[in-house]
Amino acid sequence: MEGKTHISVRDLSVFYGGARVLNNISINIPDKKLTAIIGPSGCGKTTLLKSFNRIIDLQDGVRVSGQVLVDGEDIYDPKVEVTHLRKKMGLLLQRPQILPMSIYENVVYGPRIHGVKDKKKLDGTVQCYLKVSGLWNEVKDRLHSPASRLSIGQQQRLCLARGLAVEPEVILGDEPTSALDPISAERIEQRFLELKSQYTVVLVTHNLRQAKRLADYVIFLYLGDLIEHGTADQVLKNPRYLKTESYINGEFIEEPEIHRELNLKGTACSDYFERAKHTLEKIAHSQVLKVVVEHEQNAHEFEKTMIHKGHRVLEVKRINKTDWEMLIQKQNNVYTI
Ligand SMILES: Nc1ncnc2c1ncn2[C@@H]1O[C@H](COP(=O)(O)OP(=O)(O)OP(=O)(O)O)[C@@H](O)[C@H]1O
Ligand SMILES: [Mg+2]
Repeated sequence: MEGKTHISVRDLSVFYGGARVLNNISINIPDKKLTAIIGPSGCGKTTLLKSFNRIIDLQDGVRVSGQVLVDGEDIYDPKVEVTHLRKKMGLLLQRPQILPMSIYENVVYGPRIHGVKDKKKLDGTVQCYLKVSGLWNEVKDRLHSPASRLSIGQQQRLCLARGLAVEPEVILGDEPTSALDPISAERIEQRFLELKSQYTVVLVTHNLRQAKRLADYVIFLYLGDLIEHGTADQVLKNPRYLKTESYINGEFIEEPEIHRELNLKGTACSDYFERAKHTLEKIAHSQVLKVVVEHEQNAHEFEKTMIHKGHRVLEVKRINKTDWEMLIQKQNNVYTI
């Protein structure tokens, strides 16, 4: 990943009651870029996003393990001040959540809580952030009328202005355009395009075209697993792994049938290939070998070797703090085997 890391997720798992809904997620999210989280419904997108500002703590029966570092600070450390963290990490939800007050009061709500009293300053804040969110021209003559009279698309832009008025460093958006008509959605998208030069933006979206238009990086989640993470171009146009490819092509995602398993934990990395070769000899063309290895570095080295030998690597994923699981599909048209 190029550039500076802003949010670093290390071996993060989230449990609701007994059910684990995020499995050992590790990713670095770069500073001042837009990262889109994609994946089918229920795969954990909202959960991941909410773990970034600890809004997830507000739900009953949630347990989080692992770390989320923002600017190098572990936000799950008991010493962290959650209000400060949430100010830094603004969250925009799917449906606009306006406060039952005027347009003006919605925007200054955060700054007032943080102690700003000066009217001139507050007026300036309202004008500035309504402009940034693209709403100023539509509402400048009725700032003191109830926000509830705005259209849904205008309300969403107002929520964006309210979020920006507390001067966050990160903008988290959970499908912020999916409840909007196409024109309002485009207006919000336009704002995101402008904002990403100044803020780190993480956007959950169901809409692959939106991800293509906006994202610098893409994270693909499936059933709580991080399947793929890379530049938007790479993941959306040239996905590495089978599940990502199926999802991008709008196909049903299937678990590949596994024909053999090989545990290489405790084996020297230099012996991985010989062991795998031996097992691959026992299965037919296009059958699948599941391999467990220790450490990310080894997983990637092994993946490279398998690809180099002409086999297809269907999946590479972390299954716990140290172990990685890989699915290799045997190809017969290879030189060595
Ligand atoms: N409060 C909760 N209690 C129990 N299970 C939950 C809770 N919130 C979410 N889940 C479960 O966790 C899993 C992930 O949910 P999440 O909302 O993160 O998915 P999502 O990818 O955002 O889905 P969608 O695209 O439908 O919004 C789902 O199986 C969901 O049912
Ligand atoms: Mg969701």
